[in-house]
Amino acid sequence: MLVIGEATQLREMISYWRKEGDSIGLVPTMGFLHEGHLSLVSAARKQNKKVIVSIFVNPLQFGPNEDFDTYPRNAERDVELLDKAGCDVIFMPDARTFYGNSFQSHVEVENLSKILIGEFRPGHFRGVTTVCAKLFNIVMPDRVYFGQKDFQQVAVIRQMVHDLNFPLEINMLPIVREPSGLAMSSRNALLTSEQKQQATALSAAVKTGNETFENGVHDARLIEAAARKVIEQHAPGFTIAYVVVVDAKTLSLVLDKAKDSDVLLVEAYADKVRLYDNIVLSN
Ligand code: PAJ
Repeated sequence: MLVIGEATQLREMISYWRKEGDSIGLVPTMGFLHEGHLSLVSAARKQNKKVIVSIFVNPLQFGPNEDFDTYPRNAERDVELLDKAGCDVIFMPDARTFYGNSFQSHVEVENLSKILIGEFRPGHFRGVTTVCAKLFNIVMPDRVYFGQKDFQQVAVIRQMVHDLNFPLEINMLPIVREPSGLAMSSRNALLTSEQKQQATALSAAVKTGNETFENGVHDARLIEAAARKVIEQHAPGFTIAYVVVVDAKTLSLVLDKAKDSDVLLVEAYADKVRLYDNIVLSN
């Protein structure tokens, strides 16, 4: 396994692979890897001859008062994990060379980026789509891998890939959870043990929401209310940002009856740590 920091060097490697006819899978990450990330690497490993994982805490997607400085990092451990997972190349650029001094171009998916998470984190998805567009252009992968945990992120990236004709396939993999149900996240490391315990309410909430749907209650507002109640009761230390049933593609609020494939999205935060969970409704 190689660790590469320069885009030009990575492109040389890739053009060699391309001449050999190798397919390429890309897994973009911000590091501090856990089983969730590794599930994406394992899916990429199965479907491609070569697997590239990028590790880059992308300053563009953090707001001025967000946790860029305290975002957990552990490059040495990440390299070890990826070596074991069968990754071929880790792309680990540093922010100054990656963006350069004169950087001034951005990619923005206008509407999807402004709602839900975008309402609380203006500019966040613009940073995500810009870094992904750069990574897609550098690597030109056949397939890219994202986690369902960040459902809105996948919807935004799908829209960008569609709108701008990136010739690649997007794969969304299921949420990997702790035994407690808590969705794995690098940011869980920032929670106190009590917060971590209360955070399990998010997964319990989406589960309850889906059970409500399965039991024949299809009114979207009642599904949301059932899920919200679980968070209010079990995570009094958290502030709820939203609990909503939305259309899987447009992420617009389902107005009356929910159907299979609609998604229940929840976000709540404790101090400055924001946590997300979701479930695709199914009978
Ligand atoms: P990061 O939070 O490191 O996540 C990298 C990828 O791992 C994302 O696609 C995310 O959805 C996925 N992931 C995280 N937790 C997961 C879990 N519990 N189960 C399954 N997949 C999980 O998301 C980002 O980085 C960045 O925004 C990025 C796309 C790399 C752009 O900077």
